[in-house]
Amino acid sequence: MPNTLTITDNRTGKTYEIPIEHDTIRAMDLRQIKVESGDFGMMTYDPGYTNTASCQSTVTYIDGDRGILEYRGYPIEQLAEKCTFKEVAYLLLYGELPSQPQLDEWVQSLRMHTMVHENIKEQMATFRYDAHPMGMLISTVAALSTFYPEAKEVHCEANRMLQAKRLIAKVPTLAAFTYRHSQGHPYNYPKNDRNYTENFLHMMFKMTDNPYTPEPALVRALDILFILHADHEQNCSASVMRAIGSSDADPYSALAGAAAALYGPLHGGANEAVLKMLNEIGDLKNVPGYIDRVKKGEMRLMGFGHRVYKNYDPRARIIKECADEVFEVTGRTPLLDVALELERIALEDEYFVERKLYPNVDFYSGLIYQAIGLPTTMFPVMFAIPRTVGWLAQWQELMVDQEKRIQRPRQVYLGERNRNYVPFDQRG
Ligand code: CMC
Repeated sequence: MPNTLTITDNRTGKTYEIPIEHDTIRAMDLRQIKVESGDFGMMTYDPGYTNTASCQSTVTYIDGDRGILEYRGYPIEQLAEKCTFKEVAYLLLYGELPSQPQLDEWVQSLRMHTMVHENIKEQMATFRYDAHPMGMLISTVAALSTFYPEAKEVHCEANRMLQAKRLIAKVPTLAAFTYRHSQGHPYNYPKNDRNYTENFLHMMFKMTDNPYTPEPALVRALDILFILHADHEQNCSASVMRAIGSSDADPYSALAGAAAALYGPLHGGANEAVLKMLNEIGDLKNVPGYIDRVKKGEMRLMGFGHRVYKNYDPRARIIKECADEVFEVTGRTPLLDVALELERIALEDEYFVERKLYPNVDFYSGLIYQAIGLPTTMFPVMFAIPRTVGWLAQWQELMVDQEKRIQRPRQVYLGERNRNYVPFDQRG
């Protein structure tokens, strides 16, 4: 069976044979399809990139129809059950699970980089008291590039890894500072004898005079949430990371852009939107009415639906179990009942069934964050902390890709042409 695609252009009657590799054809192979020899040639049109592979990757595998998610070939269920977030971070960046000495060295090297320059702290203090934490995070990550000008040496492998370690270590510090700022509390410096998640909770919640030891169940739940959010192949923010990285910009600038993409309510901002929605619904009796409004197209059911998962988001299943364990410690929120009822009705309703809309990772994560004591504005920041690892793994892969070129899509231009300038007094 030849591994080719035969295309007949009915405008000209010409036939073209195009190679197929990995069930894919190269868009540039279509360019030869022309009516006149001077034509530009055929392109594909794919708004939102719903059927366009932008790269070849070995980081994360998703089978959306079967609800499968794997990092470097390991199923997410096993990683969430058996690993720590730092192990998973190593796996995503280096491609293999670490041996014990490798893990020790990795953990130690991240500990070395948790502090930020004091000027960063002062700069953050200049944000308004009610600045959204995600806005603070995005701009401060971008500002970090000015503290590490050598980060521009993006073709040096050792330098790239140094910046990656800095970012993975410092983003939790910045994230905690955004929260402390919004509370009007002094920023807590990192405590490097704690593990990644404990240290983060310490920077968030430690008050000056009280000892602070986070509940182990909450530490583990957060670690699992971090593992589940660490990467998700070519999603909107990872694509932005790669797009900015493709111009050889430094990783701080690229990561700030990726975080900005994550901020939107259709992406990482959905967890914040879910909580707003649950609060708005407020009571079980209001659920059917809300579902009707969604079906009329008045709004979307936040935390539902996914571009890739058309069966079930495997992360949502793990998070739901995780939520039960967290609520055993923190007590159950009434909003959980609203969420469960919303899920129950939606999963039975023809509108959602037909469109294959299921709860996604963000449907229950917000309830856990809320139980841990976080305000909703911090939810997208909680997503950005672990996703930093995924963005960097995607960026690292891009930077050694032999086929890397600056990202520059084409357009189908449908506007006016060849118009002559009209002076003001002659315009209608
Ligand atoms: N509620 C109601 N209807 C929906 C929803 C929803 N949440 N999501 C999709 N639909 C409908 C949509 O109106 C359309 O219906 P129709 O065919 O009648 O026009 C159909 O389902 C297909 O939707 P789409 O917009 O073409 O799907 P998409 O793949 O472009 O969008 C999505 C995916 C995640 C942006 C979308 O499902 C959505 O807006 N969900 C709510 C926001 C959300 O929870 N986002 C988090 C995604 S997971 C975490 C992450 O990636 O950050």
